Amino acid sequence: LAGLKGVGEAVSKPLEYYFNNLVSTMVISKMCLKYGVGKFVFSSSATVYGDQPSPLKEDMELKKTTNPYGEIKAMSERILTDTSIANPNFSVSLLRYFNPVGAHESGLIGEDPNGIPNNLMPFVTKVAKGQLEKLSVFGNDYDTIDGTGVRDYIHVVDLAKGHVKAIENLKDGVNIYNLGTGRGTSVLELVNAFMKVNDIDVPYEIVGRRPGDIATCFADVSKAKKELGWKAELGIEEMVRDAWRFEQNNK
Ligand code: UD1
Repeated sequence: LAGLKGVGEAVSKPLEYYFNNLVSTMVISKMCLKYGVGKFVFSSSATVYGDQPSPLKEDMELKKTTNPYGEIKAMSERILTDTSIANPNFSVSLLRYFNPVGAHESGLIGEDPNGIPNNLMPFVTKVAKGQLEKLSVFGNDYDTIDGTGVRDYIHVVDLAKGHVKAIENLKDGVNIYNLGTGRGTSVLELVNAFMKVNDIDVPYEIVGRRPGDIATCFADVSKAKKELGWKAELGIEEMVRDAWRFEQNNK
């Protein structure tokens, strides 16, 4: 969870990303073997699936990644898998996150990215707060419900609970789980929900597509439900409400 997470930044600073995100994973794995720590939960990403039709399932073949950030996630999965095969006492859970958003409902713990946010939700909260002028919606000509990109947003508190379940139910060998809701939401659906639930305006304009973006990405969540006894409980309304509560508290 100390990884760097900017896709654009990874493209311009690949070595920093390979050192920080990949080498650290290898060092931690090595230390686990040395000191007899046999349970490893890895924060992976839906980005490892590449561009293929949703719903995305854990047993799908992975497609080529498009940037160093995604490549490091795929390489880390492979390194941990090889390590587990060679060391039967080292068990690994690979958690493929979809799009984590929101904040703790207390409004005290949330996300405050450095500089101008790359991801949709923190950008929306900064626009609502008046710190940024307007949201650019990247493309409305995708083959989706309203032409804007569809993603599987998951409340960060549900995501955190998924980790607890993954640790409690960690099985031998390597096990992969999608952590998503199984539901796709478009950019405009998310923005409209934000405005309605929080009763605040978010000015936006439609601009061209962002290079590297795909139309649709959402999870098949049946495996985590069956094997971990976990499913996401919170919906888009809670996500936009809690994201905005945190942003307002965040001085
Ligand atoms: C991105 C990364 C993914 C990473 C995740 C971390 C890419 C290609 N993927 O996912 O690897 O795990 O962040 O949270 O960068 N959008 C706008 N305007 C904005 C920002 C985003 O319209 O200002 C749209 C995007 O086009 C997309 C959706 O909102 O359709 C979500 O974008 P974002 O929050 O950046 O997440 P991903 O691109 O899905």
